[in-house]
Amino acid sequence: MRTAKIAPSLLSADFGNLQRDVEMVENSQAAWHHLDVMDGVFVPNISYGMPVIRAIRKHASKPLDVHLMIVDPDRYIEAFAELGCDHLTVHLEACTHLHRSLQTIRGCGMKSGVALNPHSPVSLLEDCLDMADLVCLMGVNPGFGGQSFIRNTYKKIMELRTMIDSRGLETLIEVDGGVNLDNTAHLLEAGADVLVAGSFVFGSEDPVATIARLAAVEAC
Ligand code: DX5
Ligand code: ZN
Repeated sequence: MRTAKIAPSLLSADFGNLQRDVEMVENSQAAWHHLDVMDGVFVPNISYGMPVIRAIRKHASKPLDVHLMIVDPDRYIEAFAELGCDHLTVHLEACTHLHRSLQTIRGCGMKSGVALNPHSPVSLLEDCLDMADLVCLMGVNPGFGGQSFIRNTYKKIMELRTMIDSRGLETLIEVDGGVNLDNTAHLLEAGADVLVAGSFVFGSEDPVATIARLAAVEAC
C-alpha cells in the first residue's frame, strides 16, 4: 500500500511563533517543510524570503522544499543553495530557459523541481522531464493558501504518472494547494507522491495529529 510524503506549507503558520511551528513539523510525521516564496509579480501576493528561510533552517533538520513563485528565478538559485535549501522548485511559466534553470539547480547541489500552474499541460514537460527530480502540480492558482482544489488536477497527475513510469524515471509528483483528508486517497490513487498541505494542517486543532492522519492514508 502506498502512502504520501506530507509537506506542510509554512505559509499558513503563525509567523509570530515561527520557531514553535517549525518545531511542530519537525516533531510530526511530515517528510519535508514546504516554503513558499512569492514576489508580488509572478503571483498577486508577497510572502517571505531569504532572512526568514535562514531562520527556519536553524530550527529544521528535515529537508526544506522551497517553492519559488517569482519571476526570473535564475537570479537567486545560488543564493537559495547557500541558505541550505534541499529542493528548489521554479515555475515553468516563469522560466524562459527551463532546461537551464533545472540544470543550474542540480549543479548547485539541490534537487530540481518544476511547478505547473493549473492552466499548463504536463505535455510541456516532454523535453525536460529527465532534468526534474520533482514536478509540483498546482491544485490551485498559486498565491494564497486556503483555496479549493481544482479537480482537473487529477487528470494531470495521471498523465504525468504515465510519462514518468514509461520513461523509467524516479521524478516525484508533488501536489500543492487544496489538499485535505477528503482528497488525499484520490490524489494518491492518481499517482501523487508528495502532498503539500497548508491551511488544512495549520488551521486544525491538532496539527501533529492532522499530519499523522494525512500520512496514514493509503491508496486503495
Ligand atoms: C499556494 C502555495 C501553497 C499553499 C497551499 O500558492 O504554493 O503551498 O500554502 O495552501 P493550502 O494547503 O491552504 O491550499
Ligand atoms: Zn507551495
